[in-house]
Amino acid sequence: MDHFLYRDGTLYAEDVPITEIAAAVGTPFYVYSTATLLRHFRLFDEALEGIDHLVCYAMKAASNQAILKTLAKAGAGMDVVSVGEYLRARAAGVPGDRIVFSGVGKTEDEIRTALTGGIRQFNVESEPEMEVINAVALDLGVVAPITVRVNPDVDAKTHAKIATGKSENKFGIPIARASEVYAHAARLPGLEVVGIDVHIGSQLTDLEPFRLAYAKVAELTERLRAEGHDIRRLDLGGGLGIPYTRSNEAPPLPVEYGAMIKETLGHLGCEIEIEPGRLIAGNAGLMVSRVIYVKSGEGRDFLILDGAMNDLIRPAMYEAHHDIDPVQEPAPGTERRPYDIVGPVCETGDTFAKQRNMPPMAAGDLIAFRSAGAYGAVMASEYNTRPLIPEVLVKGDQFAVIRPRPTFDEIINRDTIPEWV
Ligand code: LLP
Repeated sequence: MDHFLYRDGTLYAEDVPITEIAAAVGTPFYVYSTATLLRHFRLFDEALEGIDHLVCYAMKAASNQAILKTLAKAGAGMDVVSVGEYLRARAAGVPGDRIVFSGVGKTEDEIRTALTGGIRQFNVESEPEMEVINAVALDLGVVAPITVRVNPDVDAKTHAKIATGKSENKFGIPIARASEVYAHAARLPGLEVVGIDVHIGSQLTDLEPFRLAYAKVAELTERLRAEGHDIRRLDLGGGLGIPYTRSNEAPPLPVEYGAMIKETLGHLGCEIEIEPGRLIAGNAGLMVSRVIYVKSGEGRDFLILDGAMNDLIRPAMYEAHHDIDPVQEPAPGTERRPYDIVGPVCETGDTFAKQRNMPPMAAGDLIAFRSAGAYGAVMASEYNTRPLIPEVLVKGDQFAVIRPRPTFDEIINRDTIPEWV
């Protein structure tokens, strides 16, 4: 459920007409709903009620300071994957003991910054990384809390580019080697093993792969405890999918996911962490764009937008589907016709949708890409020297620009020309 609904024939973000934001900030832009962000966070928090838990928002999904602060004030922790994200989380007021650090390639500098500033735990992905964390901790005279990310060799049944839990993927250590790796960790005086971490992929629309992975984690917990490790915390990753289209069957709800967690892991008495990103931010954001031209091609019509693949890469990168709606609600019974919906970038891949049925559209019309809040703005680039598009946050009847559109001077002046050119 989100808070982007038609009212009096026009699309609103909560109580603000999209047309009003477009007039104030220009197009294209991202707009997020505070109520939707908070609702989704709370659904996870409530789903784990009754067990000690922390919902660590995977901020890679959408990491604007205003979004982080909104969630942090509601009690969210953060899952970060770079020192940049760590510093962003801290700047938004998230204390170190609510930040978990994931990622396969943490550098020594990143580890040092997090250990100095405070961290809840590192989710370690390899033995070489474990050695580096140990060395940095000893150098700083502290002990680093860690979990080890295990790769359970489970098929997440999602897009190959975002599946992470099969043995051929680069993530984690093979679960079969866990005893050995935990014994290694226990020998390193700069580390304190606190638990186990697992994350099998993103946009999962079925609970079964999670259940299989978590059952393996339950088994491993008992084995490692028997081997003398104090496993008291389980980080279960993110990955619960969202409905990208109204016509599809809806993925499982957070409450069902939470019940499954309690069922598979509840008996262990561990503290549970989860790292949802997409489900919190995805349907809390739209990308709004304007039709520049309607162009008739051979046997097809193109809607050429002012937004492009550099602003929202998901369709080009993952063949992802986003529902696309006109901001002016079509009158009931309006006949729809197919359009190819494209951006102005000089690549055929700059195509958002092919033969998408829309009401008749004209130059100047506004359209909204739904489910664009996660992996939208954060994956944008300035390809074709197109400025990163602004981000806007709505709360009730107020809205604010939370990241302005850069000027061309700002973009151009970031480059420097050596005197010998
Ligand atoms: N934890 C870890 C360790 C992760 O690698 C990820 C996502 C998450 C949590 C959050 O997963 P979520 O709840 O958002 O599914 N750019 C792609 C998605 C990449 C996901 C990467 N890892 C897309 O646009 O579909």
